[in-house]
Amino acid sequence: MVPHHVGVVMDGNGRWATRRGLARTEGHGAGEEALVDTAYGALAVGVRVLTVYAFSTENWRRPLDEVRYLMNFNRGLLERRQHELHAEGVRITFSGRRDWRVPKGVLHRMQEAERLTEDNRVMTLNIAFNYGGRAEIVDAVKRLVHDRVPEEKIDEKAIRERLYHPELPDPDLMVRTSGEFRTSNFLLWEMAYSELVFTEVLWPDFRREDLYAAIEEYQRRDRRFGGVDS
Ligand code: IPE
Ligand code: IPE
Ligand code: MG
Repeated sequence: MVPHHVGVVMDGNGRWATRRGLARTEGHGAGEEALVDTAYGALAVGVRVLTVYAFSTENWRRPLDEVRYLMNFNRGLLERRQHELHAEGVRITFSGRRDWRVPKGVLHRMQEAERLTEDNRVMTLNIAFNYGGRAEIVDAVKRLVHDRVPEEKIDEKAIRERLYHPELPDPDLMVRTSGEFRTSNFLLWEMAYSELVFTEVLWPDFRREDLYAAIEEYQRRDRRFGGVDS
């Protein structure tokens, strides 16, 4: 089966650029082609949700110039791509904190893309931006308190309902590029039973064929969810 929801940690942009003697930011720019090809590749094989990790709550630790570049780049990416994605029936959503650290211009584009594409149902492209898995759980706990949920009503469902996108199913497959074997705070709650696939490919070189290779690997896995094979 084709995984319903695929998560991607788009990593290795800096190394891709450094190896070419370019500035790290050039690697982020080159990642756009990878993202677009991966999204259309996912669409072509019937993936219903693609969550991509674009900026983590820890990425603010980077040099100011790089952070600034990434903010402008992501705003520009929405400006450049939202209409073609809309034409393909892609709904664009975001996971992450929309706090004071995110420039107003970026927030504005995010809202615009969400509104433009909100009725689309072919595929959801969920962009994890200023996203942290721990932050998401903290925010869910805050909502529990805000909603005055009594202790006996606190269960997994109550927490799940307060995550950023409770309507999205948990990812079936998580792919991380660039040869790093870690999740780096991506979808901590949701990835409890995701199949993890790691590839050495650096994100700017990633194309739909690499996604398909990861999906084939996923299809060879035996998912048990804690049970036993029948
Ligand atoms: C991933 O590439 C993009 C973001 C984290 C925004 P990196 O910038 O982390 O690239 P490497 O890991 O340093 O090569
Ligand atoms: C994870 O990559 C975040 C994104 C891809 C946006 P990082 O490059 O930030 O992760 P670490 O620092 O290698 O763990
Ligand atoms: Mg990295």
